[in-house]
Parts: sequence; C-alpha cells; structure tokens
Amino acid sequence: MIAIVLVGGEGTRLRPLTLDEPKPVLPIGGVAFLSLLLDRLAAAGVTRVIFSCGYLPDRLRAGIGTPPAGVEVEVVIEDEPLGTAGAIRFAAAGRVDGPFLALNGDVLSDADLGALVRAHTAAGATASIGLTPVDDPTRFGVVVCDQDGNVERFVEKPPNADGLGPAPWWVNAGFYVLDPSVLDLVPPDQMVSIEREVFPLLVGKGLIACQAEGYWRDIGTLQSYLAANADAIGGRLQTRLGGSPTTLIVDPTATVAAAAQLIAPVLIGAGAEIAAGAVIGPDVVIGAGSRIGARSIVRSAVLLDGVEVAADATIERSVLGRGATVGERSSLLDSALGTGEIVGSDQALTDERRPS
Ligand code: GTP
Repeated sequence: MIAIVLVGGEGTRLRPLTLDEPKPVLPIGGVAFLSLLLDRLAAAGVTRVIFSCGYLPDRLRAGIGTPPAGVEVEVVIEDEPLGTAGAIRFAAAGRVDGPFLALNGDVLSDADLGALVRAHTAAGATASIGLTPVDDPTRFGVVVCDQDGNVERFVEKPPNADGLGPAPWWVNAGFYVLDPSVLDLVPPDQMVSIEREVFPLLVGKGLIACQAEGYWRDIGTLQSYLAANADAIGGRLQTRLGGSPTTLIVDPTATVAAAAQLIAPVLIGAGAEIAAGAVIGPDVVIGAGSRIGARSIVRSAVLLDGVEVAADATIERSVLGRGATVGERSSLLDSALGTGEIVGSDQALTDERRPS
C-alpha cells in the first residue's frame, strides 16, 4: 500500500514556530511528528510513503530522519501550493496504479488505517473517508452518512448542531483511501480542495465513510500542539516514548538539581539543566540542551531544544522555539516564541503573542 502525506501547508496558525520549521517536523513528546506518522503507517502495512510538500522542503526532508524498516520514502515538491486535491494529484502522477491512502500531515491519531482500507475494498468504494467523533461540530467538516456508511452530505463548520442529529458528531478525520479514478476529477495545475470540491462530486457515486474510534488530534494550533505533547508524555497517546500520567522521563544526560521539583508527566531531554528551586510540570517538555534557572516555574509548556530560561521566570501554557531566551523574573502566559527569539528581564507576555 502507498500513502501520500500532505505536508505542504505553511502552518500559519502555529506561527512563529512554523516560520522556519514546517509543522510536520515539530516534535511531539520529543519525537518529530513525521516519525510518529511513519511508525503508524508502517504498522498499517504501508511500504511506500510520498510526502507532498512545498513549504521549507529542505527542512522537511531533513526532519524525516531514518524511516522504519520496510518503508520507502519519497519527497515530491510543488512549485505552487495546489490545495489538498491538487497536491494529491500532483504527487500521485505516475506513482499509483491502485487504491492508495492519503493523509493530512498534521493529524495525530491511532485510528486503524487498515480497517479503513478493508472497508473501502469490501464496499468496492471509489473514495473512503475516515471519521472521528467530536462533541462540538462547529470547527469541523461534519460528514452525514446513511446506515451503510454511504456519504449523504457535508456540513462545513456548522454554526450549531441543529439538524445534525444527536452527539457525537462524526467529522472528516483527514485520512482517506482513494481509487486512482478520483484523480480524474481534479483539474491539473490548479488549487483544488479535496474536502470542498472533490468529495461533494462523489456523493452517491461510491463515496463512503468509516467511523474510527481512538485518539485523534489536529496539531494545527498552539493549544492543540501543547495538548498533543501533554497527551504523548501523559500516555493518552501511545508513542515510542511510552509516557504515562505518573512518569518522569529524564534523559540520563540531563542534570536536575536535588532541590528542583518535577511534577509528572514531564519529559526532560538530553543535556538539559534544571537549577535548584525550579518547579517543572505537569505537562512539560524540556528540549535537549535547554536550561532552566533557579526558582523558575514551568507548567503546561513545550520548550524546544536549546532554550534558556533565567532565574525566577514563569512559563505557562506556552511554546518556546529552538534557542529562545527568557530573562530573569519574566513571565510568559499563553505565548509563543519563535526560533532564537529573546525576551529580556522583567517582562510580562500574555496571549497577545498567541496567533489565533
Ligand atoms: P494553517 O495555515 O495554520 O491553516 O495550516 P496548514 O497550512 O497546515 O493548512 P491546513 O491545516 O488546512 O492543511 C491540512 C494539511 O494539508 C496539512 O498537513 C498541510 O500541510 C496540507 N496542505 C494544505 N494545503 C496544501 C497544499 O497546497 N499542498 C500540499 N502539498 N499540502 C497542503
């Protein structure tokens, strides 16, 4: 089975983190998102993964690392963004000759992709959409099906749940199985959305959807990026990290002062240093080589590699990009710093720095 993974977006909602780092390369619980995705695709029996990218392709290629055994990886680069359908068509050209998986490259999930493939084959479908349940449908594309799983209609980001039946509502989870004939519906060299422009053409023509239980989160916003990291270290999402709610994961090369306090779940990366009196956790990832000064408090936060936080600072519900620096007694709440950004001493940043 071949999988095409869409990783060409600019990740505007995750700026400034994504200004020099494509979203799929950002770490989740210390492991690049793409590596977690490759683990999952390998487990589903995928043997060839085609990454469809355009934004920062060199960083993306470098972030793929070593693929799991038995998985061949190829990177296809668009000159211009082609939208989700245009990108799939471009990446698939000359590379697929049977049903294939297509996935959004910013969805963390442990849903059974093999079950979607089996449902697609059993139904003789043209296209099959994986669905995930949500309690609030207003931010998503709701997919309404009949009892046999045939898609009847789409309701994009409804203002409320009126007319959608009882909760939970099932929304497009961002992973599909497609027959190559679907590509004929996509005009070449144009920006085309598979969700909004192609799937509606297939209603009543072999378009099915399959409910997938399990973990699901789109990491597209700072809040969801923080939550995904907390889920990985807290064990709500199973990854190669092996996190749990009570685990303190401290790299053996990190230095934690005896008088520092760690509150699980916490992940402290290689070579990091935590000074006396610092309070770290819960739900904190400290990247490799980062240093936290004396008495600083870090809670519900992700610090990428090489971050420096001076003494008596407070970091809460925030993400700090690689090599960012925070001065003494400063506080960051609901904020994000880009790569190498510097906040001086005695500053107070709140959510005006958080992109919506
Ligand atoms: P925002 O700018 O914050 O909305 O993020 P995004 O750029 O990632 O867009 P969105 O979340 O809507 O995209 C969903 C998935 O499709 C992501 O994995 C994107 O990388 C990918 N994607 C979106 N547009 C394109 C495109 O034109 N080409 C390719 N190759 N991938 C795309």
